[in-house]
Amino acid sequence: MSRDNDVPAFEGHKPQARRLAEKALDASRAGDDTTADALFAEADRLDPEAVADVLGEDVATGQRRTSRNPAPDRDASSPEQAGIGRTAAPGQGFRTWSARGTAGAPRTPPRHPTALAIALEVNGQTHALTVDVRTTLLDALRDHLGLSGTKKGCALGQCGACTVLMDGKRVNACLTLAVMADSHPITTIEGLAEDGALHPVQQAFVEHDAFQCGYCTSGQIMSAVGLLTEGRGDSDAEIREQMSGNLCRCGAYANIVDAIRAAKEAV
Ligand code: FES
Ligand code: FES
Repeated sequence: MSRDNDVPAFEGHKPQARRLAEKALDASRAGDDTTADALFAEADRLDPEAVADVLGEDVATGQRRTSRNPAPDRDASSPEQAGIGRTAAPGQGFRTWSARGTAGAPRTPPRHPTALAIALEVNGQTHALTVDVRTTLLDALRDHLGLSGTKKGCALGQCGACTVLMDGKRVNACLTLAVMADSHPITTIEGLAEDGALHPVQQAFVEHDAFQCGYCTSGQIMSAVGLLTEGRGDSDAEIREQMSGNLCRCGAYANIVDAIRAAKEAV
């Protein structure tokens, strides 16, 4: 089964590095140098050029000023003159990361932070989490947020039990790091029903008896919702192909196809 059409195109590390650098600047301005150092270090590891861009833009435009985030020195023409940022060239590692007004002796931030602060937007609610950088989105959902509707089957990207929507597209949560989902809207099975009414796909699964033990069902339903959102599923063959990344040990495949066909006709 190919999920090429289901996974967001990989844009390189620049967007993630920019987001981390922007958060690092906020932390630095708030006086939290430890968090700032960790975030800058991780952003620099991902894409040093993106970090330099963020620092340069911040000084040049005075963006993101808040009451606790004073404007940069108007006479400063570089991040270093503004008291913010690196003194080393991109890719050459850190010499000094200094919050404005606290420039002092050079400090060496940890080169390999093990935890990062992220904002996970799940089912319309934003959660501030600090996670080990190796934490999968699946574990963040289940273990940190208590959303156990998303199931762990193989943890290898082969069964589809962990399927959720990220930016509206299907992803395997076991193959997605939580830090990659930072600031990308996530929808899980818990977020489908509205005002107590089941989503049409959920309703169709009930009416067509499309599950037995139910372990694969939340992944099947999330994948089906993604399929319909993408405008696919015009034939049973296409439904089977698009759902082929979701395995069902109970063999409820025939009824699953029936349910998805019915849901497509209902919406
Ligand atoms: S648990 Fe993610 S694909 Fe199996
Ligand atoms: S219903 Fe049991 S694994 Fe699918």
